[in-house]
Amino acid sequence: MGIETLIYEGKAKKLFSTKDENILIQEFKDDATAFNGQKKGQILNKGVINNQISTRLYQYLESHFISTHFLKKVSYNAMEIRKLKMFKLEVIVRNIAAGSICKRENIAEGTVFPSPLLEFCYKDDSLGDPFITTEEILEKKLANAKEIEIIRKMTLKINALLKDFFLRRNLKLVDFKLEFGIGKDKSIRLGDEISPDTCRFWDATTNEKLDKDRFRQDLGGVENAYEEILSRIS
Ligand code: TMP
Repeated sequence: MGIETLIYEGKAKKLFSTKDENILIQEFKDDATAFNGQKKGQILNKGVINNQISTRLYQYLESHFISTHFLKKVSYNAMEIRKLKMFKLEVIVRNIAAGSICKRENIAEGTVFPSPLLEFCYKDDSLGDPFITTEEILEKKLANAKEIEIIRKMTLKINALLKDFFLRRNLKLVDFKLEFGIGKDKSIRLGDEISPDTCRFWDATTNEKLDKDRFRQDLGGVENAYEEILSRIS
């Protein structure tokens, strides 16, 4: 499916239309941002690596009956996807405490939660993607009760599948962010990307950080961490 025009450019990806109105091309960029765009930089080869990692993970999830937007990888840094009507929501899952929850709740990084914590954020850059309650989601008509229930169930299933997948590769899936949308067939599908930009991964033996926290916290070895994740899942 040939690329037509650029229809959206985000912080880490571009979306292009194709001749088929239901199919888009999602291209991964090397650009990296953190803290709602306040910190900017580039991670060499990130676009190519994240395209491969996301492809592998979508294929894995699809093989376990999770509907996603993924159709096929079409180039080194791009994939063909189904066009979805996206919910203006980010769904965050936390298995282990890291990042914003440590500050918000004053808990130590590394605290293991007995069961996964699920959070919704309102996807609005101008507001800084704030935390949102289920009641507010309903009030703002961002999703209805049935959709929220399906998104919750899919998210927990995705977490169970991914946690197991990564643990087999000696990686702890600390937390991650998902985005969902509705496809032409009216089904709710997982969209966006799954990569070290949107997940936290720690080596299961050493707890070494192997994700975008290396960029956020200026830990160095950012490219190597992304390469390491790719090599463990390939
Ligand atoms: P947080 O600790 O900053 O709330 O992030 C939780 C997880 O969600 C972490 O794996 C990074 C991911 N995330 C995104 O992918 N995009 C975002 O805009 C934010 C805030 C977090």
